[in-house]
Amino acid sequence: MAIERLVEPTVAHEDAEEEKIEISLRPISFAEYIGQEHLKNNLKLAIEAVKKRNDGSALDHILLYGPPGLGKTTMAGVIAHELGASLRVTSGPAIERAGDLASILTNLKDGDVLFIDEIHRLRRAVEEVLYSAMEDYKLDIVIGKGPAARSVRLDLPHFTVIGATTRTGSLAGPLRDRFGIIHRLEYYKEPEIEQIINRTAGILKTKIQPDATELLATRSRLTPRIANRLFKRVRDFADVNGDGIVDQKIAKKSLDLMEIDDLGLDPADRNMLRLMYENYGDRPVGLTTIAALTGDEASTIEDFYEPYLLQMGLLARTPKGRVVTEKGKKHLQEVKNKI
Ligand SMILES: Nc1ncnc2c1ncn2[C@@H]1O[C@H](COP(=O)(O)OP(=O)(O)OP(=O)(O)O)[C@@H](O)[C@H]1O
Ligand SMILES: [Mg+2]
Repeated sequence: MAIERLVEPTVAHEDAEEEKIEISLRPISFAEYIGQEHLKNNLKLAIEAVKKRNDGSALDHILLYGPPGLGKTTMAGVIAHELGASLRVTSGPAIERAGDLASILTNLKDGDVLFIDEIHRLRRAVEEVLYSAMEDYKLDIVIGKGPAARSVRLDLPHFTVIGATTRTGSLAGPLRDRFGIIHRLEYYKEPEIEQIINRTAGILKTKIQPDATELLATRSRLTPRIANRLFKRVRDFADVNGDGIVDQKIAKKSLDLMEIDDLGLDPADRNMLRLMYENYGDRPVGLTTIAALTGDEASTIEDFYEPYLLQMGLLARTPKGRVVTEKGKKHLQEVKNKI
């Protein structure tokens, strides 16, 4: 059975309260969006150029990719805000038929932004309609059936697609080619995560001491969503066990309680590394085997566990599979000694 993850990088949508807080924390402008400087600079330039041209042309289609929780959805909102455009939000799996996409597209206005989350999960037939819509703002639809059927081309407004995906590898080549701006979101630097934590503390009106912020930042997997989530847990802990002020002692105790270690790994990460090492030693392990060992879906391992473990050098990818690195082994040993 898979271990329930505290640092689960996705939003728990069944948790309405958490979702409400997450929305309140979402930056709306470039000024509020911390980090990802390279991406922001590129986008600022592109947006400025569109505004300056002012000839009815839309901003290039944008593809954002990278691990969960790094701010792709947030950035889509920021872009729309900076353009002064309306944002329409949908996702790959939500668009079931080509007709659904057609109705979304025909309801857009010039300059609108259409955000398609999990764009790698679009159905084939839907994807094909999207190609020509993105390419030349035309929609080909078939009217009628049998011999009387005829194809009609409709003009569409000049809109911008922002696609988000955790993996570009699974995106069809022709679709990827339609994006003028393709950008990978990077893991954040620790000082940026500290800024994000302090910003969150401010919005949630909680006092946090600098050394506590620093500690939380080292445990947040360099990911804003996790930083915010840990912060909220620690804040609860401070409310119950202290005077509500988050200091380092409170933060440390609360992180220990959650079994989050010095590198931000939770029990599920360590469990995966341990199972791999105990069963396969230094031999590479295939993704499906890892999934069988931990009881997770292969895609969960690939999207959620692996990127950060790779980033930290605890896990390595070889053509034959994944291996626990020397650093990974050392880390497991250190954690074991501490407990
Ligand atoms: N640059 C940032 N500055 C401040 N807060 C941020 C930033 N990026 C993300 N966040 C916070 O992290 C949360 C998660 O970000 P977001 O939902 O945009 O991630 P995502 O990349 O779309 O993840 P997923 O792939 O799971 O959809 C947001 O609610 C926001 O509060
Ligand atoms: Mg998202």
